Amino acid sequence: MQPLQLLLCIGLGGRAGAPVATRLRRVASAGLAPGRAMTTYRTEERGQPPSPGYRLFFKNEAGHYISPFHDIPLKVDSTQNLFNMVVEVPRWTNAKMEIATQEPLNPIKQDIKDGKLRYVANIFPHKGYIWNYGALPQTWEDPHQKDKSTDCCGDDDPIDVCEIGSKVLPRGDVIRVKILGILALIDQGETDWKLIAINVNDPEASKFHDIDDVKKYKPGYLEATFNWFRFYKVPEGKPENQFAFNGEFKNKAFALEVVKSAHECWKALLMKKCDGGAINCTNVQVCDSPFHCTPEEARALVQSVPSSINKESNEEEQVWHFLGK
Ligand SMILES: *[C@@H]1O[C@H](CO)[C@@H](O)[C@H](O)[C@H]1NC(C)=O
Repeated sequence: MQPLQLLLCIGLGGRAGAPVATRLRRVASAGLAPGRAMTTYRTEERGQPPSPGYRLFFKNEAGHYISPFHDIPLKVDSTQNLFNMVVEVPRWTNAKMEIATQEPLNPIKQDIKDGKLRYVANIFPHKGYIWNYGALPQTWEDPHQKDKSTDCCGDDDPIDVCEIGSKVLPRGDVIRVKILGILALIDQGETDWKLIAINVNDPEASKFHDIDDVKKYKPGYLEATFNWFRFYKVPEGKPENQFAFNGEFKNKAFALEVVKSAHECWKALLMKKCDGGAINCTNVQVCDSPFHCTPEEARALVQSVPSSINKESNEEEQVWHFLGK
């Protein structure tokens, strides 16, 4: 049986009488196959990649534009280890695509550095990113808050996720993942957590419960992941990255605490209870947030983005770096 739930917009402050936009959605009951989509999201491109003007906007089931950072719930189910993940970069690709945290409605765009579109290097034998890479919605690593365990502040972004399933997932996919563990990258003095997670729709997902299952069923993957993050900025002339805990991957329980804390920071951000700096908090579904806007206002924001058609070529994806050990 599938109970119907009336989903009011996500409330954070618990204030009664806040204006609410309502929509119906079906909630999966316990008997449903895991991975069965409950809410579907669509994406809409403005411009074409690769170009500085390219943007990928998100829409909900009702066809309203939403922010993938603020309007997609973090948790799929409050009792289970099931989280939504926004795919920014498909495995084996190089373009550094990411949620534009400083733009209204936070579309995905390609990062720009020194006026040039950014690509990660191929570090032999890896082609681009070695997982589907993305972020957990409704999380924020506060740059003014020191992490207890790493003694470093956050990197001002949603928490990054490395999805280790066998499928190559498209940019803009919103999938459900099981969190397995976490690596604490320290990038120029900032904590930049890297979650290890698996798509619940992966054929092998039922075998994965914690970080040790990755060691057991995908031997070498965590070592490759560690080395990937250690070296990935070396081709740009930067030093090797540092890690907290000697580069040890922490387990699921530890990872879930990190996620919980980043979710609290995000709530404070959306309720204007902390300094969000240049982060854009415009959202359509967090009704008690002072940054809440109507679907009509959201549409106008998207329509004001120019749709450029100037594509750039990229040769960097064909270059290989041999960094050895
Ligand atoms: C976000 O963008 C909107 C629309 O451009 C703007 O009105 C708002 O001030 C921006 N800042 C925040 C913190 O949301």
